[in-house]
Amino acid sequence: MSLLGNEQVKDIDSENGDTGREIRVEDLRREFKRGAGRVHAIRGVSVTFAPGSFTAVMGPSGSGKTTLLQCVAGMDRPTQGTVHWGGTDITRLRERKLAQLRRSTVGFVFQAYNLMPAMTVAENVVLPTRLMGGRVDRAQVGKVLVQVGLGGCEKERPGRLSGGQQQRVAIARALYNRPHLLFADEPTGALDRNTGREILWLLREGVERHGQTCVMVTHDPLAASFADRVLMMTDGELVEDLTKPSAAVIAEKLGELA
Ligand SMILES: Nc1ncnc2c1ncn2[C@@H]1O[C@H](COP(=O)(O)OP(=O)(O)O)[C@@H](O)[C@H]1O
Ligand SMILES: [Mg+2]
Repeated sequence: MSLLGNEQVKDIDSENGDTGREIRVEDLRREFKRGAGRVHAIRGVSVTFAPGSFTAVMGPSGSGKTTLLQCVAGMDRPTQGTVHWGGTDITRLRERKLAQLRRSTVGFVFQAYNLMPAMTVAENVVLPTRLMGGRVDRAQVGKVLVQVGLGGCEKERPGRLSGGQQQRVAIARALYNRPHLLFADEPTGALDRNTGREILWLLREGVERHGQTCVMVTHDPLAASFADRVLMMTDGELVEDLTKPSAAVIAEKLGELA
């Protein structure tokens, strides 16, 4: 197929907003300028996330977890390497196309919630969809708020809610358009144990009920034990790939890395 032909196929994929649920990362590298030098935040990571799988990414502070997640979620551009969402190489998409595809495909939950304080809960939930120019479905807003345990809170302002409730709003926002891919960067980092556990069940539910592919960064072995697979990074590289490890095994492996 000619290069032009390939480009056209990609565009059709992106317009359908249907990329499939597998994520394939190949030889990913990300460098940042720092002063006169460079920081190698990611040094050649290759990994595949199976459709409908739940993966935790762990490692010491500064090991590159956030950078990896942002590159895989299409929020940052790698210096080298490719990221495929299904058949689409997102590193080859132009910014506008990527932003459009990201809004229809990806949900992202941050540690710091990133809610808009001047907007209501309902307005926060539908913000990414509105930015995409999509239709707002009030019934779906109500449903997703019930799903995260915030039924009837449509008109509240985030500032009046507890930390746990605000994170639920962020999860409702990430789940609203039923994204195929869900990313979370330390989603329970600012929450107490019990509230954190509820948030983790919500992420699991997205995987089990809706077949979402979820990748979550966490430093908490207990949180990581909710995942099917745990990856560990040090110094920009993947150094462990564990299948359904217990919290105790995770804590032990982390101890060896530190
Ligand atoms: N925007 C940036 N500019 C310069 N350096 C960065 C930037 N983002 C991350 N880094 C550096 O890349 C490395 C990995 O950071 P990060 O991905 O945030 O690690 P983690 O999430 O594991 O704590 C660190 O050395 C950090 O200082
Ligand atoms: Mg981080």
